[in-house]
Amino acid sequence: MSCKFRLLLENAEQMLIVCRKEEEFLLRDGMQQLAVLEKASLVVGNDGFIKAVGPADLIRNQFSNESFETKIDCMGKCVFPGFVDAHTHPVWAGDRVNEFAMKLAGATYMDIHQAGGGINYTVEHTTAASDEELFRSFKQRLTRMLRAGTTLVECKSGYGLKLDTELKMLRVIERAQKELDIGISSTYCGAHSVPKGKSAVEAADDIICNHLPALKQLALNGEIHVDNIDVFCERGVFDLESTKRILQAGKAIGLHLNFHGDELSPMNSAEMGALLGAHAVSHLEEVSDEGITAMAKAKCSAVLLPTTAYILSKDMLDAGVIVSLGSDFNPNAYCLSMPMVMHLACVNMKMSLSEALAAATINAAYSLGRSHTHGSLEVGKQGDVVVINASRWEHLIYQFGGHQELIEYVIIKGKIA
Ligand code: NIG
Ligand code: FE
Repeated sequence: MSCKFRLLLENAEQMLIVCRKEEEFLLRDGMQQLAVLEKASLVVGNDGFIKAVGPADLIRNQFSNESFETKIDCMGKCVFPGFVDAHTHPVWAGDRVNEFAMKLAGATYMDIHQAGGGINYTVEHTTAASDEELFRSFKQRLTRMLRAGTTLVECKSGYGLKLDTELKMLRVIERAQKELDIGISSTYCGAHSVPKGKSAVEAADDIICNHLPALKQLALNGEIHVDNIDVFCERGVFDLESTKRILQAGKAIGLHLNFHGDELSPMNSAEMGALLGAHAVSHLEEVSDEGITAMAKAKCSAVLLPTTAYILSKDMLDAGVIVSLGSDFNPNAYCLSMPMVMHLACVNMKMSLSEALAAATINAAYSLGRSHTHGSLEVGKQGDVVVINASRWEHLIYQFGGHQELIEYVIIKGKIA
């Protein structure tokens, strides 16, 4: 006989609900006072969505006659919503371990980029790689992310630049969405670098006239479905005007705007993102005060990336910006673990433990337009859950590395992944 419910997690020492009352995101005060239940249980239905969450006694009484496909005793353990990684570049061939040494010896990101390394190097190798090769390494990376508790991840293209390789990357992402359990929000990032021999204006024209119409057609055919559009808005890459044209054209075919801005130089990207209704702007190391205010007003999330940059989150949090976190996994920032990202956010960006957790769950889900289904443990949301073997939740961030030992279960739609 089939069971009525898919999963029961019983008696957790602490259950990190994160936020209540269908909040779409948390601002500073909410991030500092997360909803946490002591001695709590959670039920996921056969449809993969959360049916009940609350004090263990109450759930026991309510469900005493019900059957569950899986029951996990969480005595001595803590339960979290699956982590959401708001920014990654995970499809590529050819690592850049040598650049790590160059940077330690004093080279800047732009020095390496302009000498033909950086993104251009990865573009060459990704262009030469087969679909199968790309899929294999991508799958391994996603598996490692999942083991570290990520259940929803934003994945960008952007190491093709030319249409055929961009589409190859997006197909690889599409295949992973079909074959793997981990949730994916896919991003077309064809404007990640200006191809050799072209100006930013010419590259933007090509994207607007050729790439985006092709994406629109492939979506209509049901072949490739893309959620977001990204541009590297940076001095010497895509200027503000070209970025704006590309983003507007992306918006016109239904993509969410989610782009790299104000990273290495102040570009007024945040102001523009707010004006265009962007879901999120990433990096923001060089954001202006006006940009911060504009983002707060427009409810545009700031995706901070502690593996790449060390900026302080305080100004943004104080100004009422929806702060999220991402690993920025890419050949220049080799980190697949959101618990490590949260740790770095605390130590280097001066976030509190609870701010970091909110930024890596509900707010990251918001930045991807998914906070109605992800990012907190509430009835009606997807049953994506992480169980750790510690009786205080802060161990998740306090322990740096070694998460294979700490994370006991990663669960997607109520099934152990
Ligand atoms: O977010 N800034 C641009 N994009 C990436 C780096 C990509 C790369 O270097 O391959 C980032 O850090
Ligand atoms: Fe990035």
